[in-house]
Amino acid sequence: MIKDQHGRIHKYLRISLLDRCNLRCFYCMPEEGIPLLPKSHIMTNEEIVEIAKIFAEEGVSKIRLTGGEPLIRKGVENILEGLSKLDVQLTMTTNAVVLHKHWEHLKSAGINSLNISLDSLQAEKMNRIMRRDKFDVIWNNIHEAMDRGLHVKINVVAMKGVNDDEIIDFIQWTKKKPIHVRFIEFMPFKDNNWDWDVKGISYAEIIETIESHFSKESVERLTDRPNDTSKNYRIKGAPGTFAVISTVTHPFCDTCDRIRLTADGKIKNCLFSNIETDLLTPFRKGNDIRPIIHKSIWGKHAARAGMEDFESFANPNLNQENRSMIRIGG
Ligand code: 5AD
Ligand code: SF4
Repeated sequence: MIKDQHGRIHKYLRISLLDRCNLRCFYCMPEEGIPLLPKSHIMTNEEIVEIAKIFAEEGVSKIRLTGGEPLIRKGVENILEGLSKLDVQLTMTTNAVVLHKHWEHLKSAGINSLNISLDSLQAEKMNRIMRRDKFDVIWNNIHEAMDRGLHVKINVVAMKGVNDDEIIDFIQWTKKKPIHVRFIEFMPFKDNNWDWDVKGISYAEIIETIESHFSKESVERLTDRPNDTSKNYRIKGAPGTFAVISTVTHPFCDTCDRIRLTADGKIKNCLFSNIETDLLTPFRKGNDIRPIIHKSIWGKHAARAGMEDFESFANPNLNQENRSMIRIGG
C-alpha cells in the first residue's frame, strides 16, 4: 500500500496522457497555448501501461486518464487496452470534443463513467469560454454518452460574471436527466488570472442560490463516499444529482487518496504542489521506481501542499509556482 505520514492510503492514480488540448478554456490556458513538453520527455504508450502496472501492484485500484485532452493522444486506444488488463477501475476526464470517435475503445476498456467539462449551457457563451466553436458536438456527445448508458458527471468551473446566472439551469438539467453536475470552486494555477474576490463563487453561495430557488426542503444532502472530493446533493425526486467541489473554501484533504502522474512521468503528490518527483528517468534506466513512489507520497503535506489556510492559498507568491492545469490534468 502507498501511504503518507498522515495515515492516508493512496489508491487513486490520475495519469495525464499529454499536455495538449484542442480547446483553450480561458481559465486554463492562454489563447496561444503553452510551450509543449518535448516528445522525448513524454511517456510512451508502453511506458504508461508499465508504470501504471507498478502502481496497481502497489495498491492502486482506480486510474483516471486526463490531459490536456486525453482522447487526442495518438494511440489512446492502445493505452486503454493495456490498462484494461490491470485490476483497476478505469475512468477518464474529457472535454468530449472527439468522444464520438472512441465509443468502442471506451467500451472495450470497460469504462462506464466519464467526467465531462462543460461550463455553460449556452452555446455562444460556452464557445467564448473555450475559444472554439465546439458546443454542438460536445452537447451531442454528452447526450449520446448518456444514451449509451455511461454515467456522466459534468464539471462546471463556477465563476462570478461568467456562469453564476446558470446555476439554476444546470440544476434543472438534473431534474430532467440522470446527470451528475459538479460545480468546482475556481482554483488558482499558474497564469490563470485567479482572483477569488472577483471571480470566486463559494460552496455556500452555490447551495444558497439553489435552496432559495427550489426551497430548502426540496434540496436533499446525499451521503458522500469515503474519498469523495464533492459534497453531494439532489433535488428530491430528480433522476440526476449535483455536487460542489469546495477546494477553496472547504478543502477535503484529510481523505485525499490521489496520486498524480504528469505526461512527462513525474509524480505530483498534491494538485497544488510544485515539487515533482521524476519517475520516468529512473524507469528508463531500469531502476526500481517503487521506493521512489513510496517516498514521494510519504512526504505529502497534510493539506493543499502546505497552503492550509485561505490566506496562504490565495497568495500569488505561493499559488503561482505550480504548473498550469493543462499540464497537471486536474
Ligand atoms: N479551477 C477549477 N477547475 C478547473 N478546471 C480547470 N481549471 C480549473 C480551475 N482553475 C477543471 C476543468 C476540468 C477539470 C479537470 O478541472 O474544467 O473539468
Ligand atoms: Fe482543455 Fe480542459 Fe483546459 Fe479546457 S479546461 S483548455 S478542455 S484542458
